[in-house]
Amino acid sequence: MKIAVVLEAGRETRVALVPEAVAKLVKAGHEVTVESGAGERSDFADDVYTEAGATVGDPGLGSADVVVSVNPLDGSHVGSLRRGTATFSFLPTGESLDQGHVESLRDAGITSFALELVPRISRAQSMDALSSQALVAGYRAVVVASGLMRRFFPQNMTAAGTVQPAQVVVLGAGVAGLQAIATAKRLGAVVKAYDVRAAAAEEIRSMGAKAIELDLETLEGSGGYAREMTEDRAERQRELLTPFIEDADVLITTAAVPGRKAPMLVTRAMVETMKPGSVVVDLAAETGGNVEGSSPGEVVHIGHASVWGGQNVAGQMPGPASILLAQNIVNLLTLAAGEDGEWAPDFDDEIIAGACVTHDGEVRHEPTRDAIADHGQEGAGS
Ligand code: NAI
Repeated sequence: MKIAVVLEAGRETRVALVPEAVAKLVKAGHEVTVESGAGERSDFADDVYTEAGATVGDPGLGSADVVVSVNPLDGSHVGSLRRGTATFSFLPTGESLDQGHVESLRDAGITSFALELVPRISRAQSMDALSSQALVAGYRAVVVASGLMRRFFPQNMTAAGTVQPAQVVVLGAGVAGLQAIATAKRLGAVVKAYDVRAAAAEEIRSMGAKAIELDLETLEGSGGYAREMTEDRAERQRELLTPFIEDADVLITTAAVPGRKAPMLVTRAMVETMKPGSVVVDLAAETGGNVEGSSPGEVVHIGHASVWGGQNVAGQMPGPASILLAQNIVNLLTLAAGEDGEWAPDFDDEIIAGACVTHDGEVRHEPTRDAIADHGQEGAGS
């Protein structure tokens, strides 16, 4: 396969393939071209890609079988591709769908895959980019919180007296939340966490934190994910969580429901109950926010608390985030390659079929196809 890596547009710091991943692909018989400077913002210089066996310079999009990127390709990149070229990138669907972009991929005959849509099954764990990036974000959330907080995380016992450990509350105990718990525990904090999924309480305890148990029904959706809350339940959950938030020095929120806006878990009034010097980290700020008033990429002050809104949080540790992401992509490309290493995806494979958004001039991802059709009908009816 001819695989091309593009230089990301805008403020993206990550790169889709790191030199180590390039070396694996080259060893497997593939040709890799890397656009000059593609790895620079994650500290991978062009000459390291050359040493790994890549051709660095023009990515040669017109002759590529597969183009890999972190973010969706921009219009000029899509315009340079042949019909039948495959792309792998994050490609938002659901409430964040960029309909015009998906239509341009469809009309250009591109076979596009969305990393977010890789099914959450055991066989796909090594290809799960949402998990790998959430792991980085969960760690980063605690490092950020400890940097903003002007006190110790661990208990300190000295001859002169004892300094009490920080009280950390984590809401949402998926991949990011569990990593945040583990990191805060390593720093010595006392950690409590809550998640709506029944399985989460045991996972929280296994990380050494206390599971907050609320007198509410659990919310299991399909594929091990959470379901959306009704407004009544959301209100009750906020009420029951208020005393835990009032006691926290650090609050970290990571809650998400696939394809939906992030649930609002913490109101401004709840943050206003927090102590002087307390810190809130909202990892969901970019998708609507778990905390009322948080803003992506900014620190805002609510009551006595500093509220940090996450923005491309995995990209704030671009080296490790790219290493993990690249390994996910290598595993997906390996799955999509035929025995001779040519581009030969098996659309009967659950992972390939599940992650595919457009193929052969059609939108294959059903919810996206329906959303586009609904929009078309609305347009026709207006
Ligand atoms: P996510 O990023 O979609 O959501 C984060 C967390 O927020 C989830 O644990 C969810 O239950 C929680 N949440 C949603 N609404 C909430 C609310 N109102 N209050 C509190 N918490 C709320 O989820 P993530 O981290 O991607 O994974 C969730 C689950 O998916 C995992 O625990 C696991 O069961 C499954 N999974 C499976 C994988 C595989 O088999 N390949 C890989 C990763 C995850």
